[in-house]
Amino acid sequence: MTGRLAVSFAAALRAAALAAGASFASATLAQAHFQPEDIDMGRVQYHRTCAQCHGHNMVNSGTTVYDLRRFPVDDVERFQNSVTNGKGNMPSFKDALTPQQIELLWAYVGSRGGKEP
Ligand code: HEC
Repeated sequence: MTGRLAVSFAAALRAAALAAGASFASATLAQAHFQPEDIDMGRVQYHRTCAQCHGHNMVNSGTTVYDLRRFPVDDVERFQNSVTNGKGNMPSFKDALTPQQIELLWAYVGSRGGKEP
């Protein structure tokens, strides 16, 4: 119980650091296995910057906006490129997000929201 609490406190601290624009490199983009803290922080970031179009918890009809639950989890380069430069009706996030924040988003999307860490 105590350990669990400590873990979520650490996650909250890191989320606060993230909000403040701090950077850290705990996940590498090519990493197949994601850290639970990175997935959590990616989830927070996702709901700040992506959910308004892609849906709460990535749930959307997939008719006009890409269904991120189906994004190929082995194609991190495509993810990074599309988010950084934009695609179709999706704006570029080059100025809005740091590469570290995009890495955290990848931990969230690439793990299917933590279901396949
Ligand atoms: C303004 C609405 C909007 C926002 C905000 C948005 N997206 Fe998108 N996104 C789209 C649309 C529309 C597409 C489909 C683009 C296309 O294929 O023409 C898309 C497609 C994508 C794709 C698939 C691109 C590909 O390679 O086919 C990814 C990955 C993605 N979005 C991730 C994100 C992430 C991560 C965020 C948050 C940082 C985000 N999007 C925010 C509208 C949005």
